[in-house]
Amino acid sequence: MTITTTRHHALFFGEVEGVDLARPMTDTLFAEIEAAFHEHAILLFRGQRVTDAQHVAFSEWFGPVFTATKYSWKDEKRRLRDDMADISNLDHDGGLLPTDDPRRDHARGNQLWHTDNTFKHVPSRCSVLAAHTIPATGGNTQFADMRAAYDALSEAKKEEIDGLILEHCITYSRERMGFTGFTDAARAELPPVRQVLVRENPATGRKSLYIAAHAGRVIGWPDKEGRALIDELIAFATQPQFVHEHVWRDGDLIVWDNRCTMHRVTPFNEMQDVRDLRRVTVSDEINSVERAGLVAAE
Ligand code: OGA
Ligand code: MN
Repeated sequence: MTITTTRHHALFFGEVEGVDLARPMTDTLFAEIEAAFHEHAILLFRGQRVTDAQHVAFSEWFGPVFTATKYSWKDEKRRLRDDMADISNLDHDGGLLPTDDPRRDHARGNQLWHTDNTFKHVPSRCSVLAAHTIPATGGNTQFADMRAAYDALSEAKKEEIDGLILEHCITYSRERMGFTGFTDAARAELPPVRQVLVRENPATGRKSLYIAAHAGRVIGWPDKEGRALIDELIAFATQPQFVHEHVWRDGDLIVWDNRCTMHRVTPFNEMQDVRDLRRVTVSDEINSVERAGLVAAE
């Protein structure tokens, strides 16, 4: 064994030591990292000084990397490469975004519990987020373990939700935060998609809840009841015993499993403090409904 892993939380979130991600990865080392990833669902690597290219290269070991979502209302000029999501309050030239910039409103959607890219037909397997500059206070990231949350559901609830399919759309989460900047073209680019509510990790056989602020409807249910079930499950799954709050240090890099965790950012002084994090998002293989071999009822 080359790496050691120490849990920061009783259920999940392991800190990995003994790896310099700026150095070339090997099959044997990655096999250890992947085993730790399945066990802990989230891995923290501290003191990493990776270039953007090294960050992407490491992420590619987990699977194919998404091109960052382009929104037609966003500034065309990007600060980062096309395969990196800009999780910052910075403009393309590195200055703070104007206070009324719609990208600030959009980014605030990350304060809602979610998991990444469930609003895409083929969602994300994992995200790899690296901290470059962190604010003086706040801007922590909270994570919740959806495997433990699923396990803790009553048998009756497990039965009730078995086989249910949710509709996810980026507009659901953004509208919940009061963001209304989507043009018709942007809506057409990211139409609602379907994902299972309970998914199983093929590598471990563990089941988890698959919910997010992007989820807005339960297929085949009246809107109100569906919304109530989604809200109930998110509230249940984010109780303190399932949650770990990470306080960032420069050089931290975190890989989280989007299939079995949720996360959200805590507020910070976003008009004054720079917060520069960069995310590479790794794609899953297939839509979760298709994987489960289910057919969505209307
Ligand atoms: C993300 C995200 C939370 C944060 O990068 O996907 O939701 O703490 N980030 O910035
Ligand atoms: Mn996110």
